[in-house]
Amino acid sequence: MARSKPIHTPLITPPPNGSVSTEIFPAMGEEAIFRMIRDFYGKLSESSIGHMFAADAEGLAAEAEKSGAFFVFLLGGPPLYQQRYGPPRMRQRHLAIEIDEAARQEWLRCFGDVLEDATERYNFPAEHLEGFIEFLVKFSAWMVNAE
Ligand code: HEM
Repeated sequence: MARSKPIHTPLITPPPNGSVSTEIFPAMGEEAIFRMIRDFYGKLSESSIGHMFAADAEGLAAEAEKSGAFFVFLLGGPPLYQQRYGPPRMRQRHLAIEIDEAARQEWLRCFGDVLEDATERYNFPAEHLEGFIEFLVKFSAWMVNAE
C-alpha cells in the first residue's frame, strides 16, 4: 500500500520494554501467547482498521503468526521473531502502513478487548497486566507515522 501522507515522527524516544515482566512467558507458554495474538488479529480484522490486515483467513493467520513470535519474545520467551524474521525494527517495518492516532487508538482498543479476559483464557498473570498495557500504550505511540 503506497503512502499518501508524509512520514510523521512522534516527539518521543522509543520506549524500553521495562514494564513487561519476563515472568509472563513461563506462566502462559508459547501456545497460549500465539492463541491470544490470533484472537487479537481476529478483532483487528473486524475493526475500523481491518482493511490494513489480510482479507483472507490464511493471510490473517500468517500475519498473526509473525506478531505472535514477536510477543513470545516480548513476554520473556525465546527470540522467535528474530530467529525467523530478523531484527524487529518495528517502527521501520510499520512505515509502509499509514498509522495515525485514530488507528493507534483502535489497535489499542482491540488489544484491550483481548486482554479483558486474558487471565482466564490464556493464563495471563493478572499482576502483570498493568505493566504490559503500559508498554503497549507507550510503544504504540512510537508506531504512529502519519498526522
Ligand atoms: C499503533 C497501532 C498499530 C497498527 C495500526 C499496526 C498495524 C500493523 C499492520 C497493518 C501490520 C502488517 C500486517 C501484519 O503483518 O500483521 C503490522 C505488523 C506488525 N505489527 Fe503492528 N501495528 C500497530 C502497533 C504495533 C505495536 C505497538 C506492536 C508491538 C508491540 C506491533 C507489532 C507488529 C508486528 C510484530 C508486526 C509484524 C511485522 C513484520 O514482521 O512484518 N504493532 N502492524
